[in-house]
Amino acid sequence: MWWLALLACTSAPVETKPEAAPRAPPDCYARAGTDALKDPCATCHGDARPSGFRDVARENPWTNLFALRVYTTSDADLDAWVRTSNAPDAVWDARFDGDSDGWRTYRAQPFPGFFMTNGTVGETRIRLPPAYRPDAETYAVNLAVLEAMVRRGDVPLAADEARWGVDLDGDGAIGAATRVAFRETGLRWVGDAPGVPTPGGFPEGTQLLQVLRYLDPAPPVRMAARIREVRLMERSATGWRFAGRIEDAEGALRPQSDAEIAMCGGCHGALPVTTDGVFSFGRRTAWGGDLTAVGGPDRTMADGRGEYTAWLEQTGAGDTLGVNAEARAKFFGEGRELSFEDLARDIRVLTLPSADRARELNRVWRAIAEEQSYARGREPVAALGDEQVWREIPPH
Ligand code: HEC
Ligand code: HEC
Repeated sequence: MWWLALLACTSAPVETKPEAAPRAPPDCYARAGTDALKDPCATCHGDARPSGFRDVARENPWTNLFALRVYTTSDADLDAWVRTSNAPDAVWDARFDGDSDGWRTYRAQPFPGFFMTNGTVGETRIRLPPAYRPDAETYAVNLAVLEAMVRRGDVPLAADEARWGVDLDGDGAIGAATRVAFRETGLRWVGDAPGVPTPGGFPEGTQLLQVLRYLDPAPPVRMAARIREVRLMERSATGWRFAGRIEDAEGALRPQSDAEIAMCGGCHGALPVTTDGVFSFGRRTAWGGDLTAVGGPDRTMADGRGEYTAWLEQTGAGDTLGVNAEARAKFFGEGRELSFEDLARDIRVLTLPSADRARELNRVWRAIAEEQSYARGREPVAALGDEQVWREIPPH
């Protein structure tokens, strides 16, 4: 499969060194507490917000946020660019269902803020080591056991427990199961997979892959053929290791440098909103397909509110930097077009950008790719003002 070849010639995954590179993402430098952006910080920090910036982190290292980049190709040329695939294997690019080598594509409701309208779209995949997948049926059960551990909840799955002699549904008997029941202890992997499943954790050797793409602006906006980035994380004994590919100035996918990879370990480190550093697996809604297809009703939280409704009320914006005027205008301000009831019915009213906005995002990415300045920030935003983002966090 092409990305395996790509990743194989990427140097070994990098163990990130916290002191060596910025780990606080651009979002931490947003000027929150304004009309345009209330409190976006809890999105990632939950109730455990760091008390302040260390001196070394005061100066905002993400200077691309302020750079004015003008990428002046015509819409027609830009659209043609994003519709041209840069995946080396056209067969894969047409569609992928990865049975033979263990990769499983899944869809998940986007983590709040990481919407298509803010530039996140692509595919997400998981793969467990060979011992977990001697055959498709055994693999499906092991993935369900993992998901139960990650969610700390039951996962529906029809399985004949007698095949493995494991009590999956926790009813004390070996028979036909319709679910894998979460328990803190007592649940087992099936087949010859080593070790015991750990609540809230991924086994060593787990790999997760995210393919991020440009946006195809033809309404309804969806992911385009052209890939911006391939991102891989792999579980080792000491934690996650990261690797990836990214678009070079000519449009091919080159390995990401150590400096570019170093920031991965921040968001995929100890944030309380992840499970063991992973955002999306516990939020899985379906197997297969791409994130473009994720729509329908909002997730309901324990207090009965919709997840995105609660998030919008808290941030007062459609993104964590407070710069997506299009998303904000849908729910806030004078000319508000949509209500939270609309959102509760179909999250796409929030997550999908207009064609114009999709092109705006494509333009910025293309400009950063031409400059190859990813280490200074790769958010699809440009020319932000001092009233939006801190260049330097003031001393308190
Ligand atoms: C997209 C997720 C995300 C959002 C949103 C976010 N943060 Fe962070 N923040 C992080 C990560 C990741 C780190 C680095 C953690 C680490 O080093 O392990 C961090 C680190 C920090 C630090 C410590 C910086 C240092 O190195 O001294 C502060 C302070 C901070 N954030 C404040 C904020 C504030 C204030 C906001 C809202 C304006 C915010 N963050 C929003 C993810 C986020
Ligand atoms: C600003 C925070 C942030 C940074 C920095 C970041 N990620 Fe992520 N990553 C996320 C979020 C949030 C998701 C889930 C997106 C969604 O819900 O669609 C994600 C998803 C992923 C996934 C799919 C598994 C998962 O956790 O959901 C992989 C693999 C991944 N990222 C790898 C990387 C790599 C490699 C890097 C560095 C090149 C990186 N990420 C940098 C926030 C970040």
